[in-house]
Amino acid sequence: MHVLADTFDTVIANGTAVTPSGTALADIGVIGGRIARIAAPGTLSGGRTVDARGLHVLPGVIDTQVHFREPGGEHKEDLATGAAAAAMGGVTGVFEMPNTNPSTDNVAALQDKLDRAAGRMWVEHAFYVGATDRNLDMLGALELELGSAGVKIFMGSSTGGLLLEDDANLLKALRNGKRRVAVHAEDEPRLRERKRIAEETGHPRAHPIWRDEITALRATERLIAAARATGRRVHVLHITTGDEMRYLAAHKDIATVETTPNHLTLAAPDCYERLGTKAQMNPPVRDLAHQQAIWQAINEGVVDILGSDHAPHTLEEKAKTYPATPSGMPGVQTLVPVMLTHVNDGKLTLERFVDLVSHGPNRAFGIAGKGRIAVGYDADFTVVDMAANWEITDDWIESRCGWTPYAGFKASARPIATIIRGQDVMRDGALIGKPEGKPMRFHETTRGEGV
Ligand code: DOR
Repeated sequence: MHVLADTFDTVIANGTAVTPSGTALADIGVIGGRIARIAAPGTLSGGRTVDARGLHVLPGVIDTQVHFREPGGEHKEDLATGAAAAAMGGVTGVFEMPNTNPSTDNVAALQDKLDRAAGRMWVEHAFYVGATDRNLDMLGALELELGSAGVKIFMGSSTGGLLLEDDANLLKALRNGKRRVAVHAEDEPRLRERKRIAEETGHPRAHPIWRDEITALRATERLIAAARATGRRVHVLHITTGDEMRYLAAHKDIATVETTPNHLTLAAPDCYERLGTKAQMNPPVRDLAHQQAIWQAINEGVVDILGSDHAPHTLEEKAKTYPATPSGMPGVQTLVPVMLTHVNDGKLTLERFVDLVSHGPNRAFGIAGKGRIAVGYDADFTVVDMAANWEITDDWIESRCGWTPYAGFKASARPIATIIRGQDVMRDGALIGKPEGKPMRFHETTRGEGV
């Protein structure tokens, strides 16, 4: 066999790679942080060899919905600990949400996050800019800032103060700008009207009753009407109901769809009885009938992206009495092992997983040079062992909150290495080197380099 000697900086050798051409044994040659060659196994050599024999090499997993909440504090996440959790879980890139304190809703706040990320984040990153009734005129400019993942709209209130609850403001926001807008679709007037259900029950089992299916569907329908009226592309975050999936299937020309591992894995009422307020998130985890409908939407192609909606809150905060407890659970570190266990259980194919967490983000958001194993793309890889039987525990969690709703989960796959631009960032469960994650680049924010 012809061997190309010492041409590459790094070779990921003898792994089973998921490429646009299929899933097959391959060597992947890296030069200058980019993929330079995909060839038959055992044919490439280079300065450094990553032995991927017996392992699967996936395009780097990009989690397009995380809340890292810089600046953090005791037991509270920040950009550094959130990104460490991502790298430990095999995630190579994240889009971080704007409902921080202060909100990321202006140029200075975005720049502040980018500055804080530099030299502290282990993974590639971009930051959403939040829409408020005070910055609607500026959204078209804000979304084009370097390092911006685009605009995020909260139609229903969740953690933090960002909210656009009425159609007039929603239309204004969608009119100002061109990139795909990410939206949390829960109907705020209905949430307000029904909050007493949560207060009277005083237990998180009321969460999916308070924030019911109609609350979700009504907002999603209002959003699609506004998207049609303005011709704006939208990304509907964390869809939780079969009703919305059926509705959105008729609007795929204008809307991309996200769901989360939580909504595919946990179910009411069991999760609320077992995990209490830990299982409380917005929009809520619902019953098995909805979970099955979401699986159907995964397998029929309605869902474009899986995001973790990583939103850690401390055990102390979660110990308050519902509904004073904050909504959200950590998830960036457990996304890969939980979903790959579903792959091993036959719930989705490995290729569909890659489509949801790498190609999907690349396609929906126009990320430049990431999301595929293809020559010319960044050498970002999630290397996994598809035959590792282990149990997820709170101890394994890198997030400052120190807990996971998946404690006790019997996983059958495990992230082994996180490789970004050809460099190992995590190997065998340990972080390596320095946090050198960079802002991601997008087709729609490309700048000229000057003459
Ligand atoms: O459960 C949630 N928590 N849903 C959201 O939309 C926000 C998030 C948070 O920031 O805590």
